Amino acid sequence: MWGYSQRFVDPPKRTKVSSVTIQYMTPGATLAVPSGAARPRLAFHGTGYLGATYAVCFAELGYEVLGYDVDAPKIAKLTGGNVPFHEPGLDEMLRKNVAAGRLRFTTSIEEAAAFGDIHFVCVGTPQRPDSMAADLSHVEDVVVRLAPHLHRKALIVGKSTVPVGTAEWVEQLVRRHAPDGSEIEVAWSPEFLQEGHAVEDVLRPNRVIFGVRSEWAGAMLYAAHKGVFDLATTEDREVPVVVTNFATAELVKVAANAFLATKISFINAMAEICEPAGADVTQLARALGYDARIGNRFLRAGVGFGGGCLPKDIRAFQARAQELGVGEALRFLHEVDLINQRRRQWVVQLAAELLGRPFGPAGPDLSGVKVAVLGATFKPNSDDVRDSPALSVVRKLSRSGAEVSVFDPEGMENARREVPDATYARSVVEAVTGADLVCVLTEWEEFRTADPVVLGGLAAGKVVIDGRNCLDPVLWRRAGWEYRGMGRPA
Ligand code: UGA
Repeated sequence: MWGYSQRFVDPPKRTKVSSVTIQYMTPGATLAVPSGAARPRLAFHGTGYLGATYAVCFAELGYEVLGYDVDAPKIAKLTGGNVPFHEPGLDEMLRKNVAAGRLRFTTSIEEAAAFGDIHFVCVGTPQRPDSMAADLSHVEDVVVRLAPHLHRKALIVGKSTVPVGTAEWVEQLVRRHAPDGSEIEVAWSPEFLQEGHAVEDVLRPNRVIFGVRSEWAGAMLYAAHKGVFDLATTEDREVPVVVTNFATAELVKVAANAFLATKISFINAMAEICEPAGADVTQLARALGYDARIGNRFLRAGVGFGGGCLPKDIRAFQARAQELGVGEALRFLHEVDLINQRRRQWVVQLAAELLGRPFGPAGPDLSGVKVAVLGATFKPNSDDVRDSPALSVVRKLSRSGAEVSVFDPEGMENARREVPDATYARSVVEAVTGADLVCVLTEWEEFRTADPVVLGGLAAGKVVIDGRNCLDPVLWRRAGWEYRGMGRPA
């Protein structure tokens, strides 16, 4: 197996991805797609953020695609051409491909099973309520529902972020639940899409990973990505392909997210040092980033990372390492998590300090203080508020007695569901009017470009905490604001 994999990791001619084609097939052989279609038909199981985005983008690349979900209202919405979350560019692409007949959605597992040559598992793997580990029940559910209906050869491909070892477990599940004699294979191909940038990340990935056990699985995955490779060729780009074993493919994803989280916490730790030392972390990050070995991306200090991925992935990774008997290897990720949590509390401390409020035994006392919080989502260009640093700060401010008014351009509905007892404003102007303190906690364009002179005329106190270091301190100070960034001198 390894001899096989190594050949593909390092193909002899790798200048263009098309050269990889030859590596998958015996020269002259053609791939027999089980359904008999010219290109494999793709079924995406789970039409949440990941599955819906992939389904739409692969239809855009010309594939015949079916999205399956147990959630009937979601399927109805997608069928009607409405994306159930905010992702720039996706709505339009969905409507176009539904209208073209390449893209359909269903709640029938029998239909999905009969349709797909490749079944991508795209369901969520959230943190378990009782531990740091990942909850794999949705993955299990997909496989157990699907496998009994697979009456011809098919490939089940995991895309969900999972603990290393999951692909082998999925193989066992398939063996247990598929009809006798069926030829179902499993592969793993993690995704790396970033919310707000997801369409680009799927159509123009910076790499694709094929965790496979057979030449057929590799060839099927290659055929399923040919649209991605062809697009790259027309744009004179290269898409690196790493073909490897299951465990490595699974690890690529969690290791990448662990690295990104570590990079963010590293710069936030530097911000902690900068504050008492009188240094400026934004200039420090810039200077560090000029070293190509370090690079300047994911070095933005602020209120830290949130979302449905990085926080739960670093925890699940630690839990899995412990199960494997190597917990010590990832002990640093606990520190990464702690640094990240401290940034959220720091905003509340800073608020008390700037407003000259006392610190009681239960922490800073902000009773009666009016705070405008700009931002609720975990990052801009998304309506996702899962583990959002902004909402976590809102909760902490409220617990300290502050009256908080929140505004976010896209995340209001989700934020209201998550923190129902906060006050929600209809605009930046409404949130800021009468506020003693303004906290910018998500770097939406609308906040970055807000006019500090206008806002200064509305606020009761001209004090601003820039939790994302996204405002121009010179402009804000010139407009009479007391400006404090994260890890920047007073
Ligand atoms: C992350 C990864 O970046 C993707 O590659 C991965 O595919 C995805 O998780 C996933 O596992 O599915 P995403 O959760 O969309 O993507 O968000 P990021 O862009 O990574 O941002 C995560 C958090 O870090 C945000 O709260 C953001 O504000 C924060 N961040 C990011 C910083 O605080 N500083 C930075 O320099 C960069």
